[in-house]
Amino acid sequence: MNKVDVILGLQWGDEGKGKVVDVLTPNYQAVARFQGGPNAGHTLEFNGEKYVLRSIPSGIFQGGKTNIIGNGVVLDPILFRDEAEALARSGHDLKGRLQISRKAHLILPTHRMLDAANEAAKGGARIGTTGKGIGPTYTDKISRTGMRVGDIQSPSFREIYGRVKARHELQLRSLNYTYDLADLERQWFEAVEYLKEFRLIDGEYEINRLLAEGAPVLAEGAQGTLLDVDFGSYPFVTSSNTVCAGACTGLGIAPSRIGEVYGIFKAYCTRVGAGPFPTELFDRTGKLLQELGHEYGAVTGRERRCGWLDLVALKYAVMINGVTQLIMMKSDVMNDFETIRIATAYEIDGRRTDRFPYGIDGHITPVYTDFEGWKCDLRKIRNYADFPAQFKKYVEFIEMETGVPVKIISVGPDREETIVR
Ligand code: GDP
Ligand code: IMO
Ligand code: MG
Repeated sequence: MNKVDVILGLQWGDEGKGKVVDVLTPNYQAVARFQGGPNAGHTLEFNGEKYVLRSIPSGIFQGGKTNIIGNGVVLDPILFRDEAEALARSGHDLKGRLQISRKAHLILPTHRMLDAANEAAKGGARIGTTGKGIGPTYTDKISRTGMRVGDIQSPSFREIYGRVKARHELQLRSLNYTYDLADLERQWFEAVEYLKEFRLIDGEYEINRLLAEGAPVLAEGAQGTLLDVDFGSYPFVTSSNTVCAGACTGLGIAPSRIGEVYGIFKAYCTRVGAGPFPTELFDRTGKLLQELGHEYGAVTGRERRCGWLDLVALKYAVMINGVTQLIMMKSDVMNDFETIRIATAYEIDGRRTDRFPYGIDGHITPVYTDFEGWKCDLRKIRNYADFPAQFKKYVEFIEMETGVPVKIISVGPDREETIVR
């Protein structure tokens, strides 16, 4: 019996999960997404080409692998079709290689509208969602009123749709939200027909069969630990469990089947959307991180807020996920920095703590440890031994503080710009 290795984000998303899944895929027979939906944007670069994946696992570019969209995912047929057709046009036909769990939930056009309506109703307290209908779709799942991918095979599909839509329209009316559904609805039904061309599976049986046959499986997370609905900075979170436990419920595997847990983080921090961010920088350094790191959302194009690495939050994420190997991304962005800071504690109302507090609001002052910058171009380096001493000190400090080895270091967006220790 093999195990499922899990790769997940330890910060507020956009850590570089797509790139690393692509790099690790040759070691696996199958790659499976376990939660989230088209709110994700996972970027991969190789051979001078760049791809952004939203719902489709990042294992599709490494030939001959099975890719699975798990039951924990929420799928928008329209965006799925856009994504799959664009890939097919660029020579990556997914038919026969991509399987979709029948238990994954469907994002309806009215879910997108409810997302927009809920945000508008929140006024100044809005979350800054991606607008993809994620919250309303998971709400329906938990309320036991949602639609699943398997429903598209049912003779009463249109009836089920009609019932769910009628309920959504009531909600939209009570939120005074005006909309025009006709065009989106037509596209949605066409896209549902397209979805039928893929293999719809009982993902839990498929994955457990693969494991029983000794096949290694990689589970790909979306978003990040600090956006987890239970452990993130609630309510400024997404609506799924982004943490390791989410891989069990999102794929149908037992906790004892989890193998390595790869925790991925940037050498600094970013966040897109509203919500607390203790180490956020509002100065020139923050702007530099944003510009040099091209920190703009892959899905929405929104500016990502930037700040120093936060070890309080990182240690919390390592604990919740049981991370066994760390993967550090984007160190090259700080190549020219004189000084680099890491927050090692918070001061809250004059008291120092190394715990991630219940409510992280405006009163937190990070306590920093300063590091001398490495001031050299890391992008050309391919062996750990060749890194400058200042950089190794930075990495080894993180290892010492978290108690977890940094096994992979990424020094650029390309597949090749990766050092495995
Ligand atoms: P994901 O959502 O976790 O897959 O991450 P995104 O793709 O949204 O954001 C990561 C961005 O950083 C993408 O544009 C990547 O191409 C880029 N990237 C990944 N690793 C590195 C790296 O080591 N250095 C630099 N400069 N860019 C990177
Ligand atoms: P990947 O997988 C970064 C953020 C949104 C918002 C909050 C809730 O690319 O790392 P939602 O649409 O999920 O209801 O929005 O979560 N968010 C992300 N931020 N990366 C993501 O995905 C995100 N997915 C959602 O900006 O603050
Ligand atoms: Mg992303």
